[in-house]
Amino acid sequence: MGLLTVVGTGIKSLAHMTTEAAAAIRHADKVLYGAGEPLTIDWIVRNAKSAECLDVLYEEGKDRMLTYNAMAEVILSYVRSGLKVCVSFEGHPGIFVDVAHRCIRTARTEGYQARMLPGVSAQDCLVADILIDPAEYGCQSFEATDFLLRGYKPDVTSMLVLWQVGCIGLSTFSRNRQPKKNVRILTEVLETSYGADHPVIAYQAALFSVSSPTIVETPLRRLPEYDLGLATLYVPPLREGLVNREYLARFGIA
Ligand SMILES: C[S@@+](CC[C@H](N)C(=O)[O-])C[C@H]1O[C@@H](n2cnc3c(N)ncnc32)[C@H](O)[C@@H]1O
Repeated sequence: MGLLTVVGTGIKSLAHMTTEAAAAIRHADKVLYGAGEPLTIDWIVRNAKSAECLDVLYEEGKDRMLTYNAMAEVILSYVRSGLKVCVSFEGHPGIFVDVAHRCIRTARTEGYQARMLPGVSAQDCLVADILIDPAEYGCQSFEATDFLLRGYKPDVTSMLVLWQVGCIGLSTFSRNRQPKKNVRILTEVLETSYGADHPVIAYQAALFSVSSPTIVETPLRRLPEYDLGLATLYVPPLREGLVNREYLARFGIA
């Protein structure tokens, strides 16, 4: 009976591979792997009984949703053929990896056992490197394009994390990302809530144990000048939220 395990290999090459992810990769009949840096891919290829790359399905200019559909079909076809399948993605496999969620839901609907194992996400690295605590003021987390398209209004008393700023507004796959004009649109929108001088951080976690994270702090208005590449954008709160005295009194907190 086919079985599906989706794992995350973390962000920092091999250092973030959890013991349970490594075991799932080793024991699977078939491992399918997504984007990743070469050392992790090399480890997977050497340790898996059989490994296949999903990234070959990307094509320059091809709608990313079509690629994700094709990935889901490949993954599910191996599960349906009765194999113990492990799929690995960078970071946490449940964070901004639509195909991971979709395959697990479909496999379960079809009666197969399917599970997800957590991994170290880019946001986990950001918390550690920038030294912020998402619980301190609360943390809003959005995919950057979705943030604009749905017109979310950020709560400026809470932290804001925007993912995929390096490919904002692009529905098709491109190795040559950096849509500067789209970053300018994002900047304009954020300026209406935070002001042009609010400091923001374009953050890239280290991919290797020997390298350091890239932490670029800039006033919002200068954001379009930077190469955002793989970056995640961190927008600190503009001010602290007010404490509600009525609740303080009702909770009996001095
Ligand atoms: C498709 S999402 C994958 C997220 C991944 N599953 C995770 O848990 O971090 C890709 C986005 O993750 C973030 N990301 C991936 N690698 C990163 C890195 N090394 N540093 C900062 N952000 C990164 C960026 O926002 C990037 O656009």
